[in-house]
Amino acid sequence: MPLVSMRQLLDEAAKGGYGVGAFNVNDMEQIQAIMMAAKETKSPVIVQASRGARQFAEDLYLFRLIQAAAELNPEIPIAMHQDHGNSFETCRSAIELGYTSVMMDGSLKEDGKTPSTFEENVEVTRRVVDYAHERGVTVEGEIGVLGGVEDGHGAGGSGLDHITDPDQAVEFAERTGVDALAIAIGTSHGAYKFTKKPDGSVLKMDVLIAIHKRLPNTHLVMHGSSSVPKDLQDIVNQYGGKLKQTWGVPVEEIQLGIKNGVRKINVDTDNRLAITGAIRKVFAESPEKFDPRDYLKPAREAMKKVVAQRMTEFGQAGHAGDYKPVSIEQIAKGYKDGSLSTRPLVAK
Ligand code: 13P
Repeated sequence: MPLVSMRQLLDEAAKGGYGVGAFNVNDMEQIQAIMMAAKETKSPVIVQASRGARQFAEDLYLFRLIQAAAELNPEIPIAMHQDHGNSFETCRSAIELGYTSVMMDGSLKEDGKTPSTFEENVEVTRRVVDYAHERGVTVEGEIGVLGGVEDGHGAGGSGLDHITDPDQAVEFAERTGVDALAIAIGTSHGAYKFTKKPDGSVLKMDVLIAIHKRLPNTHLVMHGSSSVPKDLQDIVNQYGGKLKQTWGVPVEEIQLGIKNGVRKINVDTDNRLAITGAIRKVFAESPEKFDPRDYLKPAREAMKKVVAQRMTEFGQAGHAGDYKPVSIEQIAKGYKDGSLSTRPLVAK
């Protein structure tokens, strides 16, 4: 199966009332782990690469691996997504490679660090939407600013610094025509999100619900949504790691989000932890081993387990065969003739 439009994946998820995990990749083993999990749970899936990942793996290696994943798993709808594009140029180059979806994160300036103005964000996102939709490619925008830093991208600081304003979210969706909207509700990238189990004072599910009420048809995106489970932290520390105790986004809060318009859930840190724990275990228990397969295989298996669990928890499990993928050319026609709406429904 060729790579599928992320818009189609999210539209189908909205129809079915479930969320779709978007998992970050840097290498072959991570891609394989995701595909093993998708196959086992019969899940449609979003695979995403940050700018850092594209640099680390080199564009062509990474993209060819995704194409291999699609060819080897024809029964699984896969969307390939640029995570946190910092500029029109980053998004354009991803589209040229064949990515079926891009995020234009105009919440930050091109340096990927400094918060931008609302007008700057609208302008660059709108430009990416025009370019991408003409080519059948999906666009995710961001309004409000996430906390933390991921792969060198991010404003840093707390997730509470730039919470999304629901009125701005409405105006942003109307003026840009994005297919999916990332909002800031107190989460941040990385392992250190919360110093205790988050409650409503730090994880603003009320803001998410308010935005969904105003934009009932807009696909919302939760970034920084690793749950950072204690058992994964413990394995890393048991075998010589030095993680400070930390809390992520509880799965039940993500499930509440899914009931309120969240269709894409970004997860990276949980997989990093699973991989690191598995590798540390082999190194600690079998220091005589030096064949990379001896530790990469358990690492891949550990990531697969986390991904499969999230696929089940987000509800995408069992939905791989629900629909026939529409070609990217057909999607482009839909944007052009208006049958694929880019005007959000706004409730007063
Ligand atoms: P985590 O660090 O919580 O996994 O978030 C990943 C993410 O949002 C990628 O854009």
